[in-house]
Amino acid sequence: MSSLSDLDSQIRACKKCKLSEARKNAVPGEGNPHAKLLFIGEAPGSNEDIQGRPFVGAAGKLLDKMIHDVLGLERKDVFITNVVKCRPPDNRDPMPEEIEACSPYLISQILFIKPKLIVTLGRHSTGFLFAYSGASFPGITKVRGKLHVLKIGNLETKVFPTYHPAAALYNPNLRETIRDDFVKIRSEVNSNLYTIDQFFNSDGSSNKR
Ligand code: URA
Ligand code: SF4
Repeated sequence: MSSLSDLDSQIRACKKCKLSEARKNAVPGEGNPHAKLLFIGEAPGSNEDIQGRPFVGAAGKLLDKMIHDVLGLERKDVFITNVVKCRPPDNRDPMPEEIEACSPYLISQILFIKPKLIVTLGRHSTGFLFAYSGASFPGITKVRGKLHVLKIGNLETKVFPTYHPAAALYNPNLRETIRDDFVKIRSEVNSNLYTIDQFFNSDGSSNKR
């Protein structure tokens, strides 16, 4: 399997779909290659296209804030990516054929990182992972805020869907819902991600990684 940095180079040079034509930069994703937590958004927006980095605009600020304030983590502790790696013109929804062309990169990233928990942000990444693993997807509102176990390749992975942070930018109620979901994500992270052996060094000191 390609390493994450091989994938990064392949994505940056990719011309497998029409989104390559108008993009300034492809946005492979970034973070800790051994992250326990993987966040998956929809597609790059204008700021992401300019910088070649995921979630660097207003929605990204909200995501960073949730990661920091609720989970007590920094961006570098987690991995952040999208289903589609190039910006759709005028921020339209990605088309099925674009998701089909691009999603093998996401699947390779998941199998390489092997996160303990995947947080899908919004209906596109959630719907894609449900469909990919053969689960029925009754809509984001029905599945969000709960843990699901999905089979991705040979990997059984916990997936926790929540709303997309962009949807919460102008809606304080959704922002509260996302915050509540992040509190559940924190509990899941704290309860299951570390075995006793990983948590304590032999001298008894705490070691969360
Ligand atoms: N919205 C997304 O879904 N992804 C980004 O990277 C930025 C905004
Ligand atoms: Fe390639 Fe994905 Fe960009 Fe399409 S969206 S050109 S498949 S990297």
